[in-house]
Amino acid sequence: MKNIVLIGFMGTGKTTIGRLLASRLGRPFVDCDKKVEYENGMSIREIFERYGEGYFRQKEKEMIAKLSRYNNAVIATGGGVVLSSENMRRLKRNGVIIALTASAETILERTGRRNTRPLLDFVEREQIVDKLLRERGELYQKADFTIDTNGNSPQHVITEIMIFLRQAGYLRGRG
Ligand code: S3P
Repeated sequence: MKNIVLIGFMGTGKTTIGRLLASRLGRPFVDCDKKVEYENGMSIREIFERYGEGYFRQKEKEMIAKLSRYNNAVIATGGGVVLSSENMRRLKRNGVIIALTASAETILERTGRRNTRPLLDFVEREQIVDKLLRERGELYQKADFTIDTNGNSPQHVITEIMIFLRQAGYLRGRG
């Protein structure tokens, strides 16, 4: 079975939805950022601070190459995974891509709770979110299915994803 890959901007709920979806489907859940942190023995924030974004993107790319060889997993990616067409090609080869979206307001609210995102750790975070959303919008649209998480409960989002997966023939039998 193909992987189910969640893409989307920071704060769209990829980890939360991914974990719940995996448990609902009885599939393993893998979080790309967590794997990068584990392999490097450092948090994403520390990787950015010590080595910079370019180094992180390289580590992310190596991890995506590994994860795209998995089968049957639910994979949550980092928000910037779409910046590399090679990442997307790899993930698509063996997976169905689901994009989660949210408004800038929701994103600011959700990402403001913890300061684990080095890209948004600036006073001008509002402008940064707007700029990145504009730059990346088109890239997230390359998904097989898109679901808005604004005002929708995780259960609702998961149900919508399950309906899509079943209709598109990705799920057989259980779930
Ligand atoms: C990033 C998103 C983060 C993490 C890193 C960079 C981005 O993941 O990979 O801070 O460029 O959008 P989340 O989307 O899980 O926050």
